[in-house]
Amino acid sequence: MSDFSNEKLIYTPCYCEENVYHLCKAFGKLDDVYVCFISNENRSIPIWKQRASKFPDGIVIWDYHVILLVKEMSNSTKVYDLDTTLSFPCDFSIYVQESFKTLDDPQYYRKYRIIPAETYLKIFASDRSHMIKKDGTWYASPPIYSPISTSESVNNLPSFINMIENVDSKDFGFVLDDDVTAYFTETLVFIGFMLLVPILYVANFYFRYKRYKAATPWSIQDKVVVITGASSGIGEALAYEFARQDANLILCGRKVDSLAKVAKECKETCGAKNVTIQKVDVTSETDVMRFVASLEASHNKIDCLVLNAGVSMGETLESVEDFELIKTIMDVNYFGATMLAFNSLPLLKNAEKPRIVVNSSLAGIIPVPFRTGYAGSKFALRGFFESLQNELIDDNIFITMVYPGVVKTDINKNRLGDNPKALDFSNAMPSDECAKIIVDGTVQGKKEIVFTATGKLGRLMEAAGPSGISNEVMAHVGDELQHD
Ligand SMILES: NC(=O)c1ccc[n+]([C@@H]2O[C@H](COP(=O)([O-])OP(=O)(O)OC[C@H]3O[C@@H](n4cnc5c(N)ncnc54)[C@H](OP(=O)(O)O)[C@@H]3O)[C@@H](O)[C@H]2O)c1
Repeated sequence: MSDFSNEKLIYTPCYCEENVYHLCKAFGKLDDVYVCFISNENRSIPIWKQRASKFPDGIVIWDYHVILLVKEMSNSTKVYDLDTTLSFPCDFSIYVQESFKTLDDPQYYRKYRIIPAETYLKIFASDRSHMIKKDGTWYASPPIYSPISTSESVNNLPSFINMIENVDSKDFGFVLDDDVTAYFTETLVFIGFMLLVPILYVANFYFRYKRYKAATPWSIQDKVVVITGASSGIGEALAYEFARQDANLILCGRKVDSLAKVAKECKETCGAKNVTIQKVDVTSETDVMRFVASLEASHNKIDCLVLNAGVSMGETLESVEDFELIKTIMDVNYFGATMLAFNSLPLLKNAEKPRIVVNSSLAGIIPVPFRTGYAGSKFALRGFFESLQNELIDDNIFITMVYPGVVKTDINKNRLGDNPKALDFSNAMPSDECAKIIVDGTVQGKKEIVFTATGKLGRLMEAAGPSGISNEVMAHVGDELQHD
Protein backbone atom coordinates (compact mmCIF):
# COMPACT_ATOMS: atom_id res chain seq x y z
CA MET A 1 0.00 0.00 0.00
CA SER A 2 1.32 3.46 -0.82
CA ASP A 3 2.28 6.16 1.65
CA PHE A 4 -0.86 8.28 2.01
CA SER A 5 0.36 11.03 4.29
CA ASN A 6 -1.21 13.87 2.27
CA GLU A 7 2.00 15.97 2.14
CA LYS A 8 3.52 13.45 -0.27
CA LEU A 9 0.59 13.37 -2.69
CA ILE A 10 0.11 15.50 -5.77
CA TYR A 11 -2.03 18.35 -4.59
CA THR A 12 -3.13 21.64 -6.12
CA PRO A 13 -5.63 23.72 -4.11
CA CYS A 14 -9.04 24.05 -5.81
CA TYR A 15 -8.45 21.20 -8.27
CA CYS A 16 -9.84 18.42 -6.13
CA GLU A 17 -10.99 16.28 -9.11
CA GLU A 18 -7.39 16.16 -10.37
CA ASN A 19 -5.94 15.64 -6.89
CA VAL A 20 -8.27 12.70 -6.41
CA TYR A 21 -7.33 11.37 -9.85
CA HIS A 22 -3.67 11.22 -8.74
CA LEU A 23 -4.70 9.75 -5.41
CA CYS A 24 -6.49 6.92 -7.26
CA LYS A 25 -3.33 6.24 -9.21
CA ALA A 26 -1.41 6.00 -5.94
CA PHE A 27 -3.60 3.07 -4.87
CA GLY A 28 -2.31 -0.25 -6.14
CA LYS A 29 -5.60 -2.12 -5.96
CA LEU A 30 -8.79 -0.30 -6.83
CA ASP A 31 -11.40 -2.96 -6.01
CA ASP A 32 -12.98 -1.10 -3.14
CA VAL A 33 -12.05 2.44 -4.05
CA TYR A 34 -14.68 4.94 -5.18
CA VAL A 35 -14.57 8.55 -6.30
CA CYS A 36 -17.36 10.68 -4.89
CA PHE A 37 -18.43 13.90 -6.62
CA ILE A 38 -20.54 16.22 -4.52
CA SER A 39 -22.47 19.07 -6.09
CA ASN A 40 -26.03 20.15 -6.91
CA GLU A 41 -28.03 22.02 -9.53
CA ASN A 42 -27.13 25.37 -7.91
CA ARG A 43 -23.44 24.55 -7.70
CA SER A 44 -23.59 25.41 -3.99
CA ILE A 45 -22.70 22.70 -1.54
CA PRO A 46 -21.51 23.37 1.99
CA ILE A 47 -18.67 21.23 3.36
CA TRP A 48 -17.33 21.81 6.83
CA LYS A 49 -13.76 21.37 8.15
CA GLN A 50 -12.13 22.57 4.96
CA ARG A 51 -8.61 23.95 4.90
CA ALA A 52 -9.63 26.77 2.53
CA SER A 53 -12.25 28.13 4.95
CA LYS A 54 -12.04 31.56 6.56
CA PHE A 55 -14.45 30.53 9.31
CA PRO A 56 -13.79 28.80 12.63
CA ASP A 57 -16.05 25.84 11.77
CA GLY A 58 -14.21 25.36 8.47
CA ILE A 59 -17.26 25.79 6.25
CA VAL A 60 -16.78 26.38 2.53
CA ILE A 61 -19.59 26.60 0.00
CA TRP A 62 -17.96 24.82 -2.93
CA ASP A 63 -19.39 24.64 -6.45
CA TYR A 64 -18.40 20.99 -6.28
CA HIS A 65 -16.07 18.83 -4.28
CA VAL A 66 -14.46 15.45 -4.84
CA ILE A 67 -13.37 12.91 -2.26
CA LEU A 68 -12.28 9.30 -2.29
CA LEU A 69 -14.11 6.53 -0.43
CA VAL A 70 -12.22 3.36 0.42
CA LYS A 71 -13.91 0.29 1.87
CA GLU A 72 -11.48 -1.50 4.13
CA MET A 73 -11.09 -5.19 5.04
CA SER A 74 -12.72 -4.54 8.39
CA ASN A 75 -15.78 -3.34 6.46
CA SER A 76 -15.28 0.17 7.71
CA THR A 77 -15.00 2.97 5.17
CA LYS A 78 -12.37 5.70 5.05
CA VAL A 79 -12.70 9.09 3.43
CA TYR A 80 -9.69 10.64 1.68
CA ASP A 81 -10.28 14.35 1.35
CA LEU A 82 -7.15 16.28 0.52
CA ASP A 83 -8.83 19.54 1.58
CA THR A 84 -10.05 18.55 4.99
CA THR A 85 -8.67 19.60 8.34
CA LEU A 86 -9.86 16.27 9.73
CA SER A 87 -7.53 13.30 9.75
CA PHE A 88 -6.31 11.88 6.44
CA PRO A 89 -7.80 9.40 5.89
CA CYS A 90 -10.80 9.93 8.11
CA ASP A 91 -13.39 7.45 9.39
CA PHE A 92 -16.49 7.71 7.24
CA SER A 93 -18.87 8.24 10.16
CA ILE A 94 -16.70 11.00 11.65
CA TYR A 95 -16.34 12.66 8.27
CA VAL A 96 -20.09 12.59 7.67
CA GLN A 97 -20.79 13.92 11.13
CA GLU A 98 -18.23 16.72 10.95
CA SER A 99 -18.26 17.72 7.29
CA PHE A 100 -21.77 16.95 6.01
CA LYS A 101 -23.91 19.08 8.25
CA THR A 102 -27.07 20.50 6.77
CA LEU A 103 -27.95 24.10 6.07
CA ASP A 104 -31.69 24.53 6.38
CA ASP A 105 -32.17 25.70 2.82
CA PRO A 106 -32.86 23.35 -0.13
CA GLN A 107 -30.53 25.32 -2.42
CA TYR A 108 -27.63 23.94 -0.39
CA TYR A 109 -28.70 20.30 -0.33
CA ARG A 110 -25.90 18.09 -1.58
CA LYS A 111 -26.11 15.40 -4.25
CA TYR A 112 -23.55 12.69 -4.75
CA ARG A 113 -22.22 10.74 -7.68
CA ILE A 114 -20.20 7.68 -6.81
CA ILE A 115 -17.86 6.26 -9.46
CA PRO A 116 -15.59 3.21 -9.17
CA ALA A 117 -12.01 4.51 -9.11
CA GLU A 118 -11.02 2.19 -11.94
CA THR A 119 -13.68 3.72 -14.21
CA TYR A 120 -12.65 7.19 -13.15
CA LEU A 121 -9.05 6.61 -14.18
CA LYS A 122 -10.22 5.36 -17.56
CA ILE A 123 -12.56 8.18 -18.46
CA PHE A 124 -11.79 11.33 -16.48
CA ALA A 125 -10.32 14.27 -18.38
CA SER A 126 -9.52 17.67 -16.84
CA ASP A 127 -11.46 20.77 -17.67
CA ARG A 128 -9.83 23.84 -16.21
CA SER A 129 -11.80 26.39 -18.24
CA HIS A 130 -14.12 27.30 -15.38
CA MET A 131 -11.09 28.45 -13.37
CA ILE A 132 -10.15 31.16 -15.90
CA LYS A 133 -11.48 34.66 -15.30
CA LYS A 134 -12.70 36.95 -18.10
CA ASP A 135 -9.37 38.82 -18.10
CA GLY A 136 -7.50 35.55 -18.68
CA THR A 137 -6.06 35.22 -15.18
CA TRP A 138 -6.80 32.21 -12.93
CA TYR A 139 -9.11 32.05 -9.95
CA ALA A 140 -6.60 29.57 -8.52
CA SER A 141 -3.28 28.67 -10.11
CA PRO A 142 -3.66 25.52 -12.21
CA PRO A 143 -1.62 22.38 -11.60
CA ILE A 144 1.90 22.48 -12.99
CA TYR A 145 1.33 19.33 -15.05
CA SER A 146 -0.63 19.16 -18.30
CA PRO A 147 -4.38 18.60 -18.17
CA ILE A 148 -5.39 14.97 -17.80
CA SER A 149 -6.95 13.35 -20.85
CA THR A 150 -7.59 9.87 -22.21
CA SER A 151 -7.94 8.45 -25.69
CA GLU A 152 -11.75 8.63 -25.33
CA SER A 153 -12.34 11.78 -23.35
CA VAL A 154 -11.37 15.41 -23.09
CA ASN A 155 -12.76 18.18 -20.90
CA ASN A 156 -15.50 16.02 -19.34
CA LEU A 157 -15.51 17.43 -15.81
CA PRO A 158 -19.06 18.91 -16.25
CA SER A 159 -20.46 15.41 -16.84
CA PHE A 160 -19.25 14.36 -13.41
CA ILE A 161 -20.52 17.45 -11.64
CA ASN A 162 -23.87 17.49 -13.37
CA MET A 163 -26.25 16.03 -10.84
CA ILE A 164 -29.25 15.72 -13.14
CA GLU A 165 -29.89 12.05 -13.74
CA ASN A 166 -29.47 10.52 -17.19
CA VAL A 167 -27.16 13.26 -18.43
CA ASP A 168 -23.97 11.49 -19.34
CA SER A 169 -24.10 9.71 -16.03
CA LYS A 170 -25.11 6.18 -16.83
CA ASP A 171 -21.71 5.11 -18.07
CA PHE A 172 -19.68 6.00 -15.06
CA GLY A 173 -21.63 6.35 -11.89
CA PHE A 174 -24.90 7.00 -10.18
CA VAL A 175 -26.43 9.91 -8.38
CA LEU A 176 -27.84 9.72 -4.88
CA ASP A 177 -30.90 11.93 -5.16
CA ASP A 178 -31.48 12.68 -1.52
CA ASP A 179 -29.22 14.51 0.81
CA VAL A 180 -26.87 11.76 1.88
CA THR A 181 -26.30 13.50 5.19
CA ALA A 182 -29.91 12.92 6.12
CA TYR A 183 -29.55 9.29 5.08
CA PHE A 184 -26.44 8.67 7.12
CA THR A 185 -27.77 10.64 10.06
CA GLU A 186 -30.83 8.40 10.02
CA THR A 187 -28.57 5.35 9.87
CA LEU A 188 -26.55 6.60 12.81
CA VAL A 189 -29.72 7.38 14.76
CA PHE A 190 -31.01 3.88 14.01
CA ILE A 191 -27.79 2.21 15.16
CA GLY A 192 -27.77 4.43 18.26
CA PHE A 193 -31.38 3.50 18.93
CA MET A 194 -30.65 -0.22 18.62
CA LEU A 195 -27.82 0.13 21.12
CA LEU A 196 -29.96 2.23 23.39
CA VAL A 197 -32.87 -0.22 23.65
CA PRO A 198 -31.06 -2.85 25.79
CA ILE A 199 -29.50 -0.12 27.94
CA LEU A 200 -32.90 1.46 28.53
CA TYR A 201 -34.39 -1.93 29.28
CA VAL A 202 -31.80 -2.68 31.95
CA ALA A 203 -32.06 0.86 33.37
CA ASN A 204 -35.84 0.52 33.50
CA PHE A 205 -35.57 -2.76 35.34
CA TYR A 206 -33.09 -1.26 37.80
CA PHE A 207 -35.26 1.78 38.58
CA ARG A 208 -38.36 -0.35 39.01
CA TYR A 209 -36.51 -2.58 41.40
CA LYS A 210 -35.18 0.48 43.29
CA ARG A 211 -38.71 1.82 43.63
CA TYR A 212 -40.02 -1.55 44.76
CA LYS A 213 -37.30 -1.72 47.46
CA ALA A 214 -38.15 1.77 48.66
CA ALA A 215 -41.93 1.20 48.69
CA THR A 216 -42.07 -2.18 50.42
CA PRO A 217 -42.63 -3.80 52.83
CA TRP A 218 -46.07 -2.26 53.16
CA SER A 219 -49.12 -4.06 54.44
CA ILE A 220 -52.71 -2.85 54.20
CA GLN A 221 -53.71 -4.00 57.65
CA ASP A 222 -54.84 -1.04 59.81
CA LYS A 223 -53.82 1.48 57.16
CA VAL A 224 -56.04 4.54 56.77
CA VAL A 225 -57.42 4.11 53.25
CA VAL A 226 -59.61 6.79 51.65
CA ILE A 227 -61.56 5.84 48.50
CA THR A 228 -63.48 8.36 46.42
CA GLY A 229 -66.35 7.08 44.28
CA ALA A 230 -66.77 4.09 46.57
CA SER A 231 -70.54 3.92 46.16
CA SER A 232 -70.42 1.75 43.03
CA GLY A 233 -68.30 0.03 40.39
CA ILE A 234 -64.53 -0.14 40.73
CA GLY A 235 -64.55 2.03 43.88
CA GLU A 236 -66.98 -0.35 45.55
CA ALA A 237 -64.89 -3.40 44.55
CA LEU A 238 -61.77 -1.66 45.84
CA ALA A 239 -63.54 -1.09 49.17
CA TYR A 240 -64.21 -4.84 49.48
CA GLU A 241 -60.64 -5.76 48.53
CA PHE A 242 -59.12 -3.31 51.05
CA ALA A 243 -61.66 -4.47 53.63
CA ARG A 244 -60.63 -8.10 53.19
CA GLN A 245 -57.09 -7.03 54.06
CA ASP A 246 -58.34 -5.22 57.18
CA ALA A 247 -57.83 -1.60 56.18
CA ASN A 248 -59.23 1.26 58.20
CA LEU A 249 -61.65 2.48 55.51
CA ILE A 250 -63.14 5.88 54.74
CA LEU A 251 -65.54 5.63 51.80
CA CYS A 252 -66.71 8.74 49.93
CA GLY A 253 -69.28 9.59 47.32
CA ARG A 254 -72.42 11.60 46.89
CA LYS A 255 -74.95 8.74 47.30
CA VAL A 256 -74.98 8.14 51.03
CA ASP A 257 -77.42 5.21 50.80
CA SER A 258 -75.18 3.34 48.41
CA LEU A 259 -72.13 4.12 50.53
CA ALA A 260 -73.90 2.76 53.59
CA LYS A 261 -74.65 -0.51 51.78
CA VAL A 262 -71.01 -0.86 50.70
CA ALA A 263 -69.79 -0.10 54.25
CA LYS A 264 -72.12 -2.75 55.65
CA GLU A 265 -70.82 -5.32 53.14
CA CYS A 266 -67.24 -4.38 54.00
CA LYS A 267 -67.86 -5.11 57.64
CA GLU A 268 -70.23 -8.08 57.47
CA THR A 269 -68.85 -9.99 54.49
CA CYS A 270 -65.26 -8.82 54.21
CA GLY A 271 -64.47 -8.57 57.91
CA ALA A 272 -63.32 -4.95 58.13
CA LYS A 273 -63.41 -3.50 61.64
CA ASN A 274 -63.34 0.22 60.89
CA VAL A 275 -65.39 1.59 58.01
CA THR A 276 -66.80 5.09 57.87
CA ILE A 277 -68.64 6.86 55.10
CA GLN A 278 -68.49 10.51 54.09
CA LYS A 279 -70.72 12.45 51.73
CA VAL A 280 -68.24 14.23 49.50
CA ASP A 281 -68.82 15.78 46.12
CA VAL A 282 -65.25 16.01 44.79
CA THR A 283 -66.13 19.05 42.70
CA SER A 284 -67.13 21.02 45.78
CA GLU A 285 -64.28 22.82 47.50
CA THR A 286 -66.36 23.15 50.65
CA ASP A 287 -66.99 19.38 50.74
CA VAL A 288 -63.32 18.59 50.13
CA MET A 289 -62.04 21.03 52.79
CA ARG A 290 -64.57 19.80 55.32
CA PHE A 291 -63.68 16.19 54.55
CA VAL A 292 -59.93 16.73 54.95
CA ALA A 293 -60.53 18.60 58.23
CA SER A 294 -62.59 15.71 59.54
CA LEU A 295 -59.86 13.25 58.54
CA GLU A 296 -57.29 15.34 60.33
CA ALA A 297 -59.40 15.28 63.46
CA SER A 298 -60.14 11.56 63.30
CA HIS A 299 -56.88 10.02 62.02
CA ASN A 300 -54.41 12.83 61.41
CA LYS A 301 -52.95 10.88 58.49
CA ILE A 302 -53.80 9.16 55.22
CA ASP A 303 -51.88 6.02 54.33
CA CYS A 304 -53.57 5.48 51.02
CA LEU A 305 -55.61 7.95 49.01
CA VAL A 306 -57.52 6.29 46.17
CA LEU A 307 -58.71 8.87 43.65
CA ASN A 308 -61.33 6.88 41.81
CA ALA A 309 -64.43 9.07 41.42
CA GLY A 310 -65.11 9.72 37.77
CA VAL A 311 -67.65 10.27 35.02
CA SER A 312 -67.49 9.55 31.32
CA MET A 313 -69.06 10.38 27.97
CA GLY A 314 -69.60 8.45 24.75
CA GLU A 315 -70.10 10.67 21.71
CA THR A 316 -68.21 12.72 19.18
CA LEU A 317 -67.35 16.28 20.14
CA GLU A 318 -69.48 17.45 17.24
CA SER A 319 -72.58 15.85 18.70
CA VAL A 320 -72.04 17.32 22.16
CA GLU A 321 -74.91 19.79 22.65
CA ASP A 322 -73.48 21.81 25.50
CA PHE A 323 -69.81 22.36 26.30
CA GLU A 324 -70.75 22.18 29.99
CA LEU A 325 -70.48 18.41 29.55
CA ILE A 326 -66.73 18.67 28.88
CA LYS A 327 -66.33 21.07 31.81
CA THR A 328 -68.21 18.76 34.17
CA ILE A 329 -66.03 15.81 33.23
CA MET A 330 -62.96 17.91 33.85
CA ASP A 331 -64.38 19.11 37.17
CA VAL A 332 -65.00 15.61 38.48
CA ASN A 333 -62.15 13.62 36.95
CA TYR A 334 -59.34 16.15 37.00
CA PHE A 335 -60.08 18.95 39.45
CA GLY A 336 -61.87 16.58 41.81
CA ALA A 337 -58.83 14.34 42.07
CA THR A 338 -56.17 17.04 42.09
CA MET A 339 -58.01 19.26 44.60
CA LEU A 340 -58.34 16.43 47.08
CA ALA A 341 -54.70 15.39 46.57
CA PHE A 342 -53.56 18.98 47.08
CA ASN A 343 -55.46 19.35 50.35
CA SER A 344 -54.45 15.90 51.58
CA LEU A 345 -50.69 16.37 51.22
CA PRO A 346 -50.06 17.29 54.89
CA LEU A 347 -51.99 14.21 56.04
CA LEU A 348 -50.19 11.98 53.56
CA LYS A 349 -46.89 13.29 54.86
CA ASN A 350 -47.90 12.20 58.37
CA ALA A 351 -47.97 8.57 57.20
CA GLU A 352 -45.15 6.16 56.51
CA LYS A 353 -44.60 5.34 52.82
CA PRO A 354 -48.09 6.59 51.88
CA ARG A 355 -49.73 5.86 48.54
CA ILE A 356 -51.78 7.89 46.11
CA VAL A 357 -53.68 5.70 43.66
CA VAL A 358 -55.07 7.49 40.62
CA ASN A 359 -57.71 5.60 38.67
CA SER A 360 -57.23 6.91 35.16
CA SER A 361 -58.16 4.75 32.16
CA LEU A 362 -56.64 3.35 28.99
CA ALA A 363 -58.28 6.44 27.50
CA GLY A 364 -55.67 8.34 29.52
CA ILE A 365 -52.86 6.93 27.40
CA ILE A 366 -54.60 5.93 24.16
CA PRO A 367 -56.59 8.65 22.39
CA VAL A 368 -59.72 6.60 21.68
CA PRO A 369 -62.52 8.36 19.81
CA PHE A 370 -65.88 9.45 21.30
CA ARG A 371 -64.12 10.40 24.54
CA THR A 372 -62.58 13.83 23.91
CA GLY A 373 -63.55 15.33 27.27
CA TYR A 374 -62.93 12.11 29.15
CA ALA A 375 -59.57 11.39 27.49
CA GLY A 376 -58.56 15.01 28.07
CA SER A 377 -59.29 14.73 31.79
CA LYS A 378 -57.46 11.42 32.10
CA PHE A 379 -54.42 12.54 30.09
CA ALA A 380 -54.30 15.61 32.31
CA LEU A 381 -54.29 13.44 35.43
CA ARG A 382 -51.23 11.67 34.18
CA GLY A 383 -49.30 14.91 33.64
CA PHE A 384 -50.29 16.23 37.05
CA PHE A 385 -49.52 13.11 39.05
CA GLU A 386 -46.34 12.12 37.22
CA SER A 387 -45.04 15.59 37.93
CA LEU A 388 -46.19 15.34 41.54
CA GLN A 389 -44.48 11.97 41.84
CA ASN A 390 -41.19 13.58 40.91
CA GLU A 391 -41.74 16.18 43.61
CA LEU A 392 -42.64 13.63 46.27
CA ILE A 393 -40.33 10.71 45.62
CA ASP A 394 -37.79 11.86 48.21
CA ASP A 395 -40.62 11.97 50.75
CA ASN A 396 -41.25 8.30 50.05
CA ILE A 397 -44.77 9.03 48.80
CA PHE A 398 -45.63 6.58 46.04
CA ILE A 399 -48.12 7.41 43.32
CA THR A 400 -49.61 4.59 41.24
CA MET A 401 -51.27 5.53 37.97
CA VAL A 402 -53.91 2.95 37.02
CA TYR A 403 -55.08 2.51 33.44
CA PRO A 404 -57.95 -0.02 33.35
CA GLY A 405 -59.57 -1.30 30.15
CA VAL A 406 -63.30 -2.04 30.02
CA VAL A 407 -64.56 -2.99 33.49
CA LYS A 408 -68.13 -4.10 34.19
CA THR A 409 -69.63 -1.32 36.34
CA ASP A 410 -72.48 1.18 36.32
CA ILE A 411 -70.48 3.53 34.12
CA ASN A 412 -72.87 3.15 31.14
CA LYS A 413 -75.72 4.27 33.35
CA ASN A 414 -73.80 7.23 34.75
CA ARG A 415 -72.36 8.45 31.46
CA LEU A 416 -72.94 12.13 30.65
CA GLY A 417 -74.41 13.51 27.44
CA ASP A 418 -77.69 13.18 25.58
CA ASN A 419 -76.99 10.05 23.59
CA PRO A 420 -73.81 8.37 24.82
CA LYS A 421 -72.68 5.26 22.99
CA ALA A 422 -72.77 2.44 25.55
CA LEU A 423 -69.63 0.51 26.40
CA ASP A 424 -69.66 -3.03 25.16
CA PHE A 425 -69.28 -5.18 28.25
CA SER A 426 -69.04 -8.50 26.38
CA ASN A 427 -65.31 -8.75 27.10
CA ALA A 428 -65.31 -6.58 30.21
CA MET A 429 -63.24 -7.44 33.25
CA PRO A 430 -65.23 -8.07 36.44
CA SER A 431 -64.78 -5.19 38.87
CA ASP A 432 -63.49 -7.44 41.69
CA GLU A 433 -60.71 -8.75 39.44
CA CYS A 434 -59.81 -5.19 38.50
CA ALA A 435 -59.78 -4.17 42.17
CA LYS A 436 -57.49 -7.05 43.14
CA ILE A 437 -54.93 -6.02 40.49
CA ILE A 438 -55.06 -2.41 41.66
CA VAL A 439 -54.64 -3.29 45.33
CA ASP A 440 -51.72 -5.66 44.62
CA GLY A 441 -50.00 -2.98 42.55
CA THR A 442 -50.62 -0.42 45.29
CA VAL A 443 -48.96 -2.63 47.90
CA GLN A 444 -45.96 -3.04 45.61
CA GLY A 445 -45.81 0.72 45.05
CA LYS A 446 -45.96 0.33 41.27
CA LYS A 447 -45.53 3.46 39.21
CA GLU A 448 -48.28 2.40 36.85
CA ILE A 449 -50.64 -0.46 36.14
CA VAL A 450 -51.67 -0.83 32.50
CA PHE A 451 -54.51 -3.27 31.83
CA THR A 452 -55.03 -5.52 28.77
CA ALA A 453 -52.64 -6.56 26.02
CA THR A 454 -53.98 -3.79 23.77
CA GLY A 455 -53.31 -1.26 26.49
CA LYS A 456 -49.77 -2.46 26.99
CA LEU A 457 -49.18 -2.35 23.23
CA GLY A 458 -50.60 1.16 23.07
CA ARG A 459 -48.31 2.24 25.88
CA LEU A 460 -45.33 0.73 24.07
CA MET A 461 -46.27 2.38 20.80
CA GLU A 462 -46.63 5.68 22.56
CA ALA A 463 -43.24 5.26 24.25
CA ALA A 464 -41.58 4.26 20.98
CA GLY A 465 -42.93 7.44 19.47
CA PRO A 466 -44.68 6.57 16.19
CA SER A 467 -47.64 8.78 16.98
CA GLY A 468 -48.64 8.58 13.34
CA ILE A 469 -49.28 4.87 13.72
CA SER A 470 -51.05 5.13 17.05
CA ASN A 471 -53.31 7.90 15.82
CA GLU A 472 -54.11 5.99 12.64
CA VAL A 473 -54.89 2.83 14.60
CA MET A 474 -56.92 4.61 17.26
CA ALA A 475 -58.95 6.53 14.72
CA HIS A 476 -60.28 3.22 13.38
CA VAL A 477 -60.60 1.09 16.46
CA GLY A 478 -63.84 -0.65 17.08
CA ASP A 479 -65.77 -1.13 20.25
CA GLU A 480 -63.02 -3.30 21.65
CA LEU A 481 -60.99 -0.20 22.35
CA GLN A 482 -63.73 2.05 23.57
CA HIS A 483 -62.21 2.14 27.01
CA ASP A 484 -63.46 4.20 29.85
N1 LIG B 1 -65.75 0.96 34.03
C1 LIG B 1 -64.75 1.06 33.21
O1 LIG B 1 -64.71 0.42 32.15
C2 LIG B 1 -63.60 1.97 33.54
C3 LIG B 1 -62.44 1.83 32.78
C4 LIG B 1 -61.37 2.65 33.07
C5 LIG B 1 -61.45 3.56 34.09
N2 LIG B 1 -62.57 3.70 34.79
C6 LIG B 1 -62.60 4.71 35.86
O2 LIG B 1 -62.95 4.11 37.07
C7 LIG B 1 -63.53 5.07 37.93
C8 LIG B 1 -64.79 4.49 38.50
O3 LIG B 1 -65.72 4.28 37.46
P1 LIG B 1 -66.72 3.06 37.45
O4 LIG B 1 -66.56 2.33 36.18
O5 LIG B 1 -66.65 2.33 38.70
O6 LIG B 1 -68.10 3.85 37.28
P2 LIG B 1 -69.30 4.09 38.28
O7 LIG B 1 -69.83 2.78 38.73
O8 LIG B 1 -70.20 5.01 37.56
O9 LIG B 1 -68.60 4.81 39.49
C9 LIG B 1 -68.32 6.16 39.48
C10 LIG B 1 -68.09 6.60 40.90
O10 LIG B 1 -67.67 7.96 40.88
C11 LIG B 1 -68.41 8.65 41.85
N3 LIG B 1 -68.60 10.04 41.49
C12 LIG B 1 -69.04 10.55 40.32
N4 LIG B 1 -69.11 11.89 40.39
C13 LIG B 1 -68.70 12.24 41.65
C14 LIG B 1 -68.55 13.47 42.33
N5 LIG B 1 -68.86 14.65 41.76
N6 LIG B 1 -68.10 13.46 43.59
C15 LIG B 1 -67.81 12.29 44.19
N7 LIG B 1 -67.93 11.09 43.61
C16 LIG B 1 -68.38 11.07 42.35
C17 LIG B 1 -69.75 7.94 41.95
O11 LIG B 1 -70.27 8.10 43.24
P3 LIG B 1 -71.58 8.99 43.60
O12 LIG B 1 -72.48 8.88 42.45
O13 LIG B 1 -72.08 8.36 44.85
O14 LIG B 1 -71.08 10.35 43.82
C18 LIG B 1 -69.34 6.50 41.72
O15 LIG B 1 -69.06 5.88 42.94
C19 LIG B 1 -63.75 6.31 37.08
O16 LIG B 1 -62.75 7.25 37.34
C20 LIG B 1 -63.61 5.80 35.66
O17 LIG B 1 -63.16 6.78 34.79
C21 LIG B 1 -63.65 2.90 34.55
